[in-house]
Amino acid sequence: MENKLNNLKKEILDQLSKIKDSQILRELEIKYLGRKGEITKVLRGIADLRAEDKKSIGKLANEIKAELQSKFKEVKNIIERGTDKKPDKIDVTLPGEKIARGHIHPITQVQNELEDLFISLGFMVLDGPELESDYYNFEALNIPKFHPARDIQDTFYVEPPLTYSGQEGKNKERSDLVMRTHTSPVQIRAMQKYGAPMRCVVPGRVFRHEATDACHDNTFYQLEGLMIDKDISIVNLISVMQEMLSGIFKQEVEIRVRPGYFPFVEPGLEVDVKCTICAGAGCASCKHSGWSEMIGAGMVHPNVLRAGNIDPDKFTGFAFGMGVDRLVMMKYGINDIRLFHGGDLRFLNQF
Ligand code: FA5
Repeated sequence: MENKLNNLKKEILDQLSKIKDSQILRELEIKYLGRKGEITKVLRGIADLRAEDKKSIGKLANEIKAELQSKFKEVKNIIERGTDKKPDKIDVTLPGEKIARGHIHPITQVQNELEDLFISLGFMVLDGPELESDYYNFEALNIPKFHPARDIQDTFYVEPPLTYSGQEGKNKERSDLVMRTHTSPVQIRAMQKYGAPMRCVVPGRVFRHEATDACHDNTFYQLEGLMIDKDISIVNLISVMQEMLSGIFKQEVEIRVRPGYFPFVEPGLEVDVKCTICAGAGCASCKHSGWSEMIGAGMVHPNVLRAGNIDPDKFTGFAFGMGVDRLVMMKYGINDIRLFHGGDLRFLNQF
């Protein structure tokens, strides 16, 4: 076997020294080193050798294979350059490799526009954790444990690591950590930190354990808005909504305001935008209603103000939570929300 390998090596090197044509070189490489090549066959045959031979022959065969591969590469380079001399200069005038340039995702583009718009209205832009406590996500928002409203937002509960509280996490009926289902928990964090008067918006990613369809995803973006001051009324809320939507759509859009239930506001309402994909006729993107449900809003509930350490007898406020993905869908006529996170460049490069 050892002799056979050495002879093969000699035979190949001999042929390589005469080659001047890249096509013949390729054929030779396939003949000896290809999947069914001579060297490959020898390597496969090693499995049938006696145990004491396997190691030494295997080592030799691999060394010969590596040596031949590098020799093939060397000859290939020589043929391509037309000389066996190494180039002594680099041609710096040759065009460089083109590096593909990325760009901002359409959701981030609209989020940036929204932030600019609200900064111009005197709002702070705040952030909050995506892994949230049950307290901030529900409890402080007037949604106590076992309140039926918790079922509206299908929640991802997250088991805390054992080090978080010993063995506790495993034994509890339900974890205290959730992937936030909305950006509303930052309302409480903002009130606790900044007090009143205060106005802020909170863009961010939220998570729901939902079956997806053309207008629902399990991970999507919201923009929360909160304004607390003396004598804030629903009129302020509606005018800020109008300002926001006309600022983003840069044209008249038809909206519809209807009562909505959220335990953390009273009264509560929902704002729908006439579907720009079907012009109100009804399609999969608007659940065949002609309207896209875009914003939940209302006047902040006194219990929520209290949880934020603000006196509801002195201050009132409005809050809203808008689905940014749906806003971008309506702005650009995108008919399926799942395109945003699909990573398909044919879609993304259009923005
Ligand atoms: C909420 O999340 C409330 N936190 C909104 C709110 C804030 C009300 C402040 C009152 C005061 P809702 O579940 O309706 O509400 O979601 C708000 C918006 O998020 C919806 O109008 C919609 O535009 C968007 N949205 C909801 N679920 C999904 C989903 N699965 N996929 C994409 N967008 C969604």
